[in-house]
Amino acid sequence: MATRVPLAFLCFVLFASPLLAAKTFDFYYLVLMWPGAYCTQSTCCRPTTGLPKNDFFVRGLWTFSSTTGKPVTKCNSDPFYVDELSSLEDDLNSYWANLKCPSNDGVVHWKKTWKTYGVCSRMNETEYFQAALELRAKVDVFSLLDKKGIKPSLLHIYGASDIEKAIGEGIGATPVIRCSKGLLGLFQLYEIYICVDKDGKTIIECPVKPRFTCSEEILFAPFDTNQLQNVPPAADPAELLFSDE
Ligand SMILES: *[C@@H]1O[C@H](CO)[C@@H](O)[C@H](O)[C@H]1NC(C)=O
Repeated sequence: MATRVPLAFLCFVLFASPLLAAKTFDFYYLVLMWPGAYCTQSTCCRPTTGLPKNDFFVRGLWTFSSTTGKPVTKCNSDPFYVDELSSLEDDLNSYWANLKCPSNDGVVHWKKTWKTYGVCSRMNETEYFQAALELRAKVDVFSLLDKKGIKPSLLHIYGASDIEKAIGEGIGATPVIRCSKGLLGLFQLYEIYICVDKDGKTIIECPVKPRFTCSEEILFAPFDTNQLQNVPPAADPAELLFSDE
């Protein structure tokens, strides 16, 4: 009988510890998104909060495990309070807008990011979104590319390795670029993955690199915020029903 308890405990340790470890993140991917690429594949709408910047957007600050190479998500059910982001409103609307149609205010997307990744970060909500926005501003990928003459244009095609090099030299670590299919089926710059220490501040070499398919030469599609259509959400059917009364 005396051996039963330690045995049960041993079983618990053996089986549960990999599960526990999988719930521990040890680095972030800062994922930046080029809206010009996004909008060649999807119809884009002008956010209800106004025009975003003509720049790379934050897609997320994703919690990852270097042991498993997988995302660490939904660690708890901490709530999302939009009010806690009020001090970051301008930056969120400029650089973390949602261009999906119909026009929206981005809140659903921020909430999803918080509930999926933010709750695993050990930062509070304000700190988490602020960390991501500060990282975006610090790396300033658009300026790094611009300095090397890499500008959004349909008249040019750029070496994927030149883009990686321009960013890499600027941030002191190797980024990974993700392409999507753009005009005429050509590959285009879509997302940039930059690894960040679990402190949420320090850019590091990636412990695990995501792998994506790009061609050697890629497009950097233009993005014009003035072409974003204002498409209001469909009226609530309940309102229509009572509008005649
Ligand atoms: C989040 O953390 C910051 C800094 O530690 C603190 O000032 C702020 O009050 C915290 N916010 C909440 C809602 O706990």
